[in-house]
Amino acid sequence: MKWSFSIFVAWTLQLSLQPSACSASDSPVCIPPGTVPVYRFWSPALGRHFYTLDDTEKQILLSEYAHVWTYDGVAYRAFASNEDPNLVAVYRFWSGPLSTHFYTLDETERDWLITNYPCVWTYEGVAFYAYPPIRQPVGTIPVQRFWSGSLETHRYTTSDRERFKLSNEDADIWQYEGVAWHAYPADSLSVVKIVKGPALQWVTRESVTILWETDVPAGTSVGCGIDSVGEFEVADPDWVTLHKVVLSDLAPDTLYAYTAASGSASRTGTFRTAPRDGQAFRFAVCGDTQWGQDTHKQVATGILENRPGIVLHAGDLVSLGRDLDIWETEFFCPAAELLANVPLVPVPGNHEYFGLGPPWFFYFFDRPAYCGWFALTYGNARFIGLDTGVAFCPCSPQHEWLVQELASAACRDAAWRVVVLHEPPFTSTSGHTDNLAAQDWLVPLFEQHGVDVVFSGHSHAYERYLHNGIHYIVTGGGGGCLYTLLPDETPPIRQFGRSVHHYCIVDVDPASGTLTISAIDTAGEIFDSAELLK
Ligand SMILES: [Fe+2]
Repeated sequence: MKWSFSIFVAWTLQLSLQPSACSASDSPVCIPPGTVPVYRFWSPALGRHFYTLDDTEKQILLSEYAHVWTYDGVAYRAFASNEDPNLVAVYRFWSGPLSTHFYTLDETERDWLITNYPCVWTYEGVAFYAYPPIRQPVGTIPVQRFWSGSLETHRYTTSDRERFKLSNEDADIWQYEGVAWHAYPADSLSVVKIVKGPALQWVTRESVTILWETDVPAGTSVGCGIDSVGEFEVADPDWVTLHKVVLSDLAPDTLYAYTAASGSASRTGTFRTAPRDGQAFRFAVCGDTQWGQDTHKQVATGILENRPGIVLHAGDLVSLGRDLDIWETEFFCPAAELLANVPLVPVPGNHEYFGLGPPWFFYFFDRPAYCGWFALTYGNARFIGLDTGVAFCPCSPQHEWLVQELASAACRDAAWRVVVLHEPPFTSTSGHTDNLAAQDWLVPLFEQHGVDVVFSGHSHAYERYLHNGIHYIVTGGGGGCLYTLLPDETPPIRQFGRSVHHYCIVDVDPASGTLTISAIDTAGEIFDSAELLK
């Protein structure tokens, strides 16, 4: 790296690029005048980004350093002058030894570098002006800062997807350092569209999580209430594309209506909070909704018509979980009405890990990063989700977590212990046979700790087994091409099976002590049922 620029060249403001002034009636995608684009370049050779709002600098990079720098586009819009008292300077440094730039709005950090590292960092002055966290106006987006010790460079991004990828898939390279500053998004002209969701997710007696994605950054707002959506509102002024709202302090077993809104785009739905311990409730289980969009839509419609309080998904939501577009076509679109009106809590299947890129399952579902297992109390039941796509052998983090979970008071005190996982311990189809690891490492724990029923997917069919007092239901008929049932020759012998697209509806009635499983095909016919009694 042989070159460096002085940042104090005259700013070439592109008046033609100036957005128009906002009015009160404008969509929130309107950006105030006075902002200028900050251009982002990427160097594959150096493994670094470079940012500038200087058009002269941009042109030099494009014409003379095209072999080094690739133009990424406008990263965001900042200010060339501090016309707003809430704006602060973002300072730029250049490091010859590290071949990288560094930006900070922290004066202490600036002075520390100047004083202590003059041989490494050359101070280049004010790059632009932006808003510090907590002083940002409505409509700005957070610029997230990462540091890589191995690459010896910082990276800045306004993209929720890029942040997710760096924080998870590339976590061994990039360390998240927080919000560096707030700026305005690059594009002021698009009309906001909700492209995924709203999707109801984690639900308890007091709370629910709602997720949706917009095509461009926009604000986040949920209006909610029992009698009207205007009873209370939760809002976040930051503009983002992935919107997650947790509504809390809700009443148990209560039907709420809500509106999820970003700018001028909004969608409505309803949800019911989790029931109390002694209340009857209904939940649904499905699996393998991948590939068959039309069938998945039929399954989702059938589930919604049965009005369960929650859906457990046994995995393989999509066919290629690392392909972001497939999440729209195979999952969010076919199940849109269901997702907007019934919380869905899934476990990952093997297909959630297929393809190139990060497993987007963890981008959309409200979990700790890359943790596919969960436990949730719902009514008098304890739902336990397991991820058969990662290790579950003894001493693995998941196995240790499961041992603790099964011994916990929340699990022991529940009337019903319901497990959902993707790969079945017992199955016999043209697609898959028994998962012996699950038989060796999970089934003994299920038996030791009084698990009542285990739902799985993976085999694209319906199967029901009973083994040592535990019911094992394979419910992999949510959309993928069906597998043929094979003769079952090793105990436990399948009690019932059918190669059919379907879902399961489960009714729990504490008064009668029953848990009733109904397997329902896409025509709405119950083709198998089982009643468990406590
Ligand atoms: Fe599958």
